[in-house]
Amino acid sequence: MEEVRASRGPAGRGGRGTQASAPVKPIALSEVQAAEHSRLSTGIGELDTVLGGGLVPGSLVLIGGSPGIGKSTLTTMALANLLAAGHRTLYVSAEESAAQVRLRAQRLPGPASLQIPVIAETDLDAVLATLEQEHPEVCVVDSVQTLHSSTLSSAAGSVAQVREVAGEIMRVAKQRRIAVLLVGHVTKEGSLAGPRVLEHLVDCVLQFEGERERTYRTLRAVKNRFGSTNEAGVFEMRDDGLVEVVDASARFVAEATRAPGSVVLCAMEGSRPLLVEVQALVTASELVPPRRVVAGLDRNRVALVLAVLGRHGGIGLGAADVFVNVVGGVRVDEPGADVAVALAVASAAKRIPLTGGDAPLACFGELGLTGELRNVAHGERRLAEAAKFGLGPVVEPAVCRTLNAALTQALARTQRPDDLAA
Ligand code: TYD
Ligand code: MG
Repeated sequence: MEEVRASRGPAGRGGRGTQASAPVKPIALSEVQAAEHSRLSTGIGELDTVLGGGLVPGSLVLIGGSPGIGKSTLTTMALANLLAAGHRTLYVSAEESAAQVRLRAQRLPGPASLQIPVIAETDLDAVLATLEQEHPEVCVVDSVQTLHSSTLSSAAGSVAQVREVAGEIMRVAKQRRIAVLLVGHVTKEGSLAGPRVLEHLVDCVLQFEGERERTYRTLRAVKNRFGSTNEAGVFEMRDDGLVEVVDASARFVAEATRAPGSVVLCAMEGSRPLLVEVQALVTASELVPPRRVVAGLDRNRVALVLAVLGRHGGIGLGAADVFVNVVGGVRVDEPGADVAVALAVASAAKRIPLTGGDAPLACFGELGLTGELRNVAHGERRLAEAAKFGLGPVVEPAVCRTLNAALTQALARTQRPDDLAA
């Protein structure tokens, strides 16, 4: 059962047809006035990029992520930068006390962090009244699930409440041209709690991902009315806040182990290439069925790769536990990762390190069920990124048409001339 607010006017839906509405004249799109959006820079390059060039005044941005990922940190830092640039800001904390917000802000760099005007309030009407009075240019609401509207009796965080809260905030935001950053939690199942409803309402949905215990986090746009959803940003959580990782590939490649079970994947984070290390471990299993533990990749996709590896690559793992991990807490959700999983698992199973000379072996490509290697988007950019870090030749669909060709090529690469001589 879902609680809804009683309709405002009795004429509402029941009164359809009783009142004649005047017709509206359609006009050609070319005659519609569309002003270029002026953007507010948040001072955080990666965030601006993901937003499509900065915050649009009057827009509603939903930032989702699991607890502890750094949503409050990111939004506080953005507000501090905006404040330092002379914009009016407001931080609405419905989750933490003002003192807790202060303690966080103290850790952040720059004096502006402590100048941010803050209210700790859970009552929606009080927040709306404050917005009307203070009319900030940018406002953070942390979080949409903890604000409560007294017109509904259901608990804060319920679908009806979340929808009401977001709807009312949007009304004021559009009226006063306030850019609002709405913070939203993610449920255990991984979807934005309640906010499936919100996705339609807001202009932009950003997803903050990564694992709390790890340092790297990615921010990506799931929906963006003012930009592309191809952009992603990489951050690192440090003692003094989130730091943008501009050259993430360099780090991951430098950290790659070159041991058996490790390969470098030329992945795409949105429209940006990113080199990440994929690791696998294969051990004799004592369990039936054996264990398949996967982090940073889709579990079903890995199961598919293992099946193809068994059937077409001759590497059966029916009696082995298989662990696959993307290093650094990065999540890769694209078919281009298939061949990296296959090569890492094969390398681990055979205990042969796969390296291209002294550099780690780089690869990308999708595996088909018949053992073929399929093309994936942005091949050129992936190759260019690998070349930038001296990785190559890359094992990829343009060179190897099948899984077996990829395995052969990867192994051939590994045999250094002196190994062969020995
Ligand atoms: P937080 O922004 O509160 O996460 P969220 O709002 O998404 O729940 O911060 C998450 C974690 O980051 C918290 O456990 C403490 C840590 N942290 C740092 O490591 N360095 C910092 O500078 C800050 C502010 C937090
Ligand atoms: Mg928080």
